[in-house]
Amino acid sequence: MRLCINIDHIATLRNARGGIEPDPFAAAMICEHAGADGIVVHLREDRRHIKDHDVRKLRETITTKLDLEMGASDEIVAIALDIVPNLITLVPEKRQELTTEGGLDVVAQKDKLMNVIAQFHKKKIPVSLFVDPVMSQIEASKEIGADMIELHTGEYAEATGEKELQQLLKEIASAARYGKQLGLEVNAGHGLNYLNVSAVAAIPQIDEMSIGHSIISRAAFVGLERAVKEMIALMK
Ligand code: PXP
Repeated sequence: MRLCINIDHIATLRNARGGIEPDPFAAAMICEHAGADGIVVHLREDRRHIKDHDVRKLRETITTKLDLEMGASDEIVAIALDIVPNLITLVPEKRQELTTEGGLDVVAQKDKLMNVIAQFHKKKIPVSLFVDPVMSQIEASKEIGADMIELHTGEYAEATGEKELQQLLKEIASAARYGKQLGLEVNAGHGLNYLNVSAVAAIPQIDEMSIGHSIISRAAFVGLERAVKEMIALMK
């Protein structure tokens, strides 16, 4: 089980003052030092946190892997093809949303996404699709050539009642099994925190998790290195 850390909110904090600190590059170094298996950044169309130069600098400096999360717009695809991250994670992106609000509708956009995946494959960049734990979306992801799926855990993370929580966890586990059966690598992410991560980490078919907000929030109180180490301990 690998942990990739989304450091977008280091850039959010930096941009609040328009200066250079805290530096996402420095955050990435600390995460790697603390045991993270990869660094995730989302280059949004509105550049509200991570900027183009951050992605370029991270590409040159990180020693684990760079997972570039992005919408499938022509502009961002062109930048990603130029930077060549280790992994692309395609997500739906809406301008007004506070954060990614759900999985991609792969079924409805097969042709468009297949074309984008093919462009990345030409450069030997693997592609992950962020999808809800729904069989038809997983099947469509396989059909159009995705290497990996990232199961959206946001609904599980927001569930309040125990029954609902168990039901959503079951859906994530079945989706993970199905993804594996189809030969996809299976990641999970969104809304995972120190309280809800263990149950997801216990699903054997999940290879990797992508976690941001909770780790960066905890880092404000205990420091980034400790926040990362605590998360890794819980996952294990
Ligand atoms: N995975 C994807 C595809 C995301 O869009 C995000 C949020 O940027 C995350 C994981 C991390 O979510 P969180 O910040 O809630 O841990």
